[in-house]
Amino acid sequence: MKLGRNDACWCGSGRKYKSCHMFFDDKIEQIVNRNKQIVAPPRDIIKTPEQIAGMRKAGEINTMVLDTVEQHVKEGVTTEELNRIVEERTKELGGVCACLGYEGYPKSVCISINEVVCHGIPSEKRHLQNGDIVNIDCTTIVDGYYGDASRMYMIGEVSEAKKKLVQVTKECLDEAVSIAQPWTTLGDFGYAINKRATENGYSVVREIGGHGVGLDFHEDPWVPHIGQPNSGMLIVPGMTFTIEPMINMGKPDVFCDAEDGWTIYTDDNQPSAQWEYTLLITEKGNEILSR
Ligand code: MF3
Ligand code: CO
Ligand code: CO
Repeated sequence: MKLGRNDACWCGSGRKYKSCHMFFDDKIEQIVNRNKQIVAPPRDIIKTPEQIAGMRKAGEINTMVLDTVEQHVKEGVTTEELNRIVEERTKELGGVCACLGYEGYPKSVCISINEVVCHGIPSEKRHLQNGDIVNIDCTTIVDGYYGDASRMYMIGEVSEAKKKLVQVTKECLDEAVSIAQPWTTLGDFGYAINKRATENGYSVVREIGGHGVGLDFHEDPWVPHIGQPNSGMLIVPGMTFTIEPMINMGKPDVFCDAEDGWTIYTDDNQPSAQWEYTLLITEKGNEILSR
C-alpha cells in the first residue's frame, strides 16, 4: 500500500512520509523500473538510527576482541587457546560470542587454517605451525546487536604463493568496500571481487557468501562474491551487511566435513583465504562497523 505524503513514515521516525522516506522510496522505484536486473531492498532490512548506534557499539567491541586475540596468534599456540581468549575478552567487554551454540556450533570463534575455507572448529590438538595461513572469524552480540569480522594471519615463514593469496583476498575486500556505495548494486562489487580473484589465477567460493547482519547473525540479503554489474539487490543507506570473500588458490569447489558437520575444505586441498568486514551504507558512502 502506498503511503500518503502526510502519513507517518514507515521507518518509525514519527516524521511525515514526505519529509522522511518518500524521495528514497521513489528513487528505488525509478531504478528498479528502469532496470529489471535490479532488485529493491525490503524495507525491514533498513536500520533505524537507534539500531545503527547499537550496531556501531557491537562492531567496535567485536573489533576489540579481534585486536586482543591477534596478540596471541603465534607459532605453537593451539586454536583452543585462541578460542578461550576470544571468550574471556568478549565477556570482559560485556558481549556474548554469537558463534557458541549457533545452530549447534560448539565453539566461540571460527579458526580456519590453510585448506580450511571457513567454519574451522578450535581444537587443543591443533597448534599453529610455521607456514600456516590462518583466518580468525569473530562475531559478537552486544545488547542484542551483532558485529562480524575476520582477519588473516601468517605464521612464521609463509610461502610467497600463500602470501600473495592472503594479500589479493584483502584487496578483493577493500575494492568491494570502495564500490559498496548507496545506489550501486550487490552485483557491482561481486563482479569486482571475482574479476580481481580470477585475474590472479584464483577462484571465488560460491556456496557461501556475506549476509545482512545487525539484529540477527544472518539476515537478508545474501551477499554473493561473484556477480554482474548493475544487477542484484540495490544498495541503499541504512543497509548493514558483511562482505567476506573466500578466495581459493585452486578450484572454487568446497565440501563440508561429514563428521563435524561444520568445517568447510577446498576440494583440491589447496589453500583458501578470507577477510570480512561488517559494513553500514550511509548517505555518502559507507562506514566499516567491524573490521
Ligand atoms: N562468522 C561466520 C560468518 O561470517 C559465521 C560462523 S557461524 C558458526 O558468517 F556457527 F560457524 F560460528
Ligand atoms: Co564472520
Ligand atoms: Co559473516
